[in-house]
Amino acid sequence: MKGGKKNSAAGAQNNMGAQRSSFSFSSYIFFFAAVAATATLSILSYELILSLAESTLAAAIGTAVILIVLSVVLTLISAVYRRAEAERPVKEILRATDRMARGDFKISLKPRHMWGKYDEYDVIFENINRMAAELSKNEMLRSDFIANVSHEIKTPLSVISSYAQMLRIKDLPPEERAACADTIVSASNRLTALVVDILKLNKLENQKIFPQKCALNAGEVMRECVLSFDEKIENKGISLDCDIDDVEAVSDAGFLEIIFNNLISNAVKFTEGGGSMFISLKEEGAYFVATVRDSGCGMSAETGAHIFDKFYQGDTSHSQEGNGLGLALVKRVIDILGGEISVNSREGEGTTFTVKIKK
Ligand SMILES: Nc1ncnc2c1ncn2[C@@H]1O[C@H](COP(=O)(O)OP(=O)(O)OP(=O)(O)O)[C@@H](O)[C@H]1O
Ligand SMILES: [Mg+2]
Repeated sequence: MKGGKKNSAAGAQNNMGAQRSSFSFSSYIFFFAAVAATATLSILSYELILSLAESTLAAAIGTAVILIVLSVVLTLISAVYRRAEAERPVKEILRATDRMARGDFKISLKPRHMWGKYDEYDVIFENINRMAAELSKNEMLRSDFIANVSHEIKTPLSVISSYAQMLRIKDLPPEERAACADTIVSASNRLTALVVDILKLNKLENQKIFPQKCALNAGEVMRECVLSFDEKIENKGISLDCDIDDVEAVSDAGFLEIIFNNLISNAVKFTEGGGSMFISLKEEGAYFVATVRDSGCGMSAETGAHIFDKFYQGDTSHSQEGNGLGLALVKRVIDILGGEISVNSREGEGTTFTVKIKK
């Protein structure tokens, strides 16, 4: 499986936004032809009246009648023209925006001209369609997010509740009592970690956290992260090989820690005892490249396609640990730092994450 995320350029949809409206000749030609025909007919009628009129009064009445008819016809032409060109699309826009204001995003306005001959209204129609699609996607993500958060909170809460009930049993042996207390502590730690991750992700997504860039040694930051997993790695019997260079960079140490800690934590979590891990950090021109490789369970192409989604956990045997927010956080942080992350994995053989960030 090979997947990855590059700092993507704007998608195809944005092309529509950049699309310009073109000047529509046909409607102006129609309007011009109608006005010219009316004016010509009126002048001819006027000439006719002048030649036929027997008195000045009759000629004046005839002229007045022609002027009135001419005004009525021109007003009608202008009304028809305005209705077709402006009122109808404006009404459609009003109806669409009113539906959106009421939370209905199933909107698809049909442009009135062919692509390439769009006028301003067609461009507005397309923009409204894109806006509705985006809002509807956000609405779906929001409700999915709420469902996921509720589910993730419910599990540790029910563990806490049932083990707390057990602690009420008076003659519970001390070792069972201690085990219950340990389970409650670990479930509440999980709950705390979940809330901390959600808040962090929320702040990152709402751009409430900005990178606090300063001069640092990226290699040093990575070494400290590796050290914090030393005990876990040793307890699991995983062999660790590191090749971490000192790389001077101007970056945010906290952001780098989020990236390194999550990648290392995953490598440890998804590698069985007896497995191996390799961690490196190298300078590459204007970038530094961090690699975290493990000989763990690897992942299928299906899993690989979703690992950066919030709450996604591909390997169900490990889903008791964590909430599936780690890589979502990593991706967001890398987006903000303007870097790239890629993953190369084979089921049953292991996984390599590579991160490239500007120094
Ligand atoms: N090194 C890896 N080896 C195998 N699968 C991995 C690896 N890293 C990530 N994955 C897959 O990607 C999924 C998402 O990873 P992520 O870090 O977001 O969540 P998590 O580790 O399950 O939970 P959390 O990070 O919140 O503790 C994992 O559940 C797993 O299926
Ligand atoms: Mg993780």
